[in-house]
Amino acid sequence: MNKNLLNFMLNIQKKQGFLYKLILSVNELYIKSFLSGQLGPSKGYAEAFSAGGEEFVIRVLGASGQAKVCDFFKYSIKAGGPDYVMPHKTDAGSIEKIFKMVSHIPLGIFHNDDLVGYALIRLLFPKRASYAIFVSDKWQGKGIGTAALGKQLDLIRKLKFEPHSAVSKKNARSIKMLKKLGIEYTDDLGDYFEVKDRNGA
Ligand SMILES: CC(C)(COP(=O)(O)OP(=O)(O)OC[C@H]1O[C@@H](n2cnc3c(N)ncnc32)[C@H](O)[C@@H]1OP(=O)(O)O)[C@@H](O)C(=O)NCCC(=O)NCCS
Repeated sequence: MNKNLLNFMLNIQKKQGFLYKLILSVNELYIKSFLSGQLGPSKGYAEAFSAGGEEFVIRVLGASGQAKVCDFFKYSIKAGGPDYVMPHKTDAGSIEKIFKMVSHIPLGIFHNDDLVGYALIRLLFPKRASYAIFVSDKWQGKGIGTAALGKQLDLIRKLKFEPHSAVSKKNARSIKMLKKLGIEYTDDLGDYFEVKDRNGA
């Protein structure tokens, strides 16, 4: 993607203001009208994986997951630091809106019934998918992020979208995680690297 355009998008995502919401609404209309037919693999999606000797499941969240995600951002993770751009606001109203959008696929990472991580796939014009992942502070460093993001990327490829994102140069953990998954750094955006998946798209 054009460097300036990507930087512009990251900046308006940070502010989460009117322009960002407008672009997301237009994008939502596009995905709903032209690409919703290929979203079958995400319906009821659930995959088990192990990390650090424990078993986890990553699955698509329905409306009943909204309160859990809200609590996750309130109590389980120190969110909103300078290392990354939040994909959306984390109050109950904003989460409810995200869960209703066809272009957004919210995923929960569970250990038994406990939500230990949250991941989001955002389908974007024309066939790109951005991704974000958060692991609860107390569960970090056990391999959950790497394993779950691997599943997230597989799902994006099954949906026939191209994984495409940006990572802050300050986010050492995320950079390590992406490297392990073979994600390539394609462009220097200043504060960020553009990252592209060369594995399967
Ligand atoms: C980035 C994130 C998802 C990684 O999740 P995770 O489960 O901790 O990831 P992993 O255990 O698979 O570890 C990935 C790498 O980060 C390192 N790491 C994880 N937690 C760490 C910590 N607290 N301090 C230092 N390094 C850490 C790991 O050592 C690993 O590298 P290594 O295999 O070379 O040792 C998690 O740190 C997180 O939620 N961060 C806040 C949100 C964020 O930055 N999300 C990504 C952008 S949206």
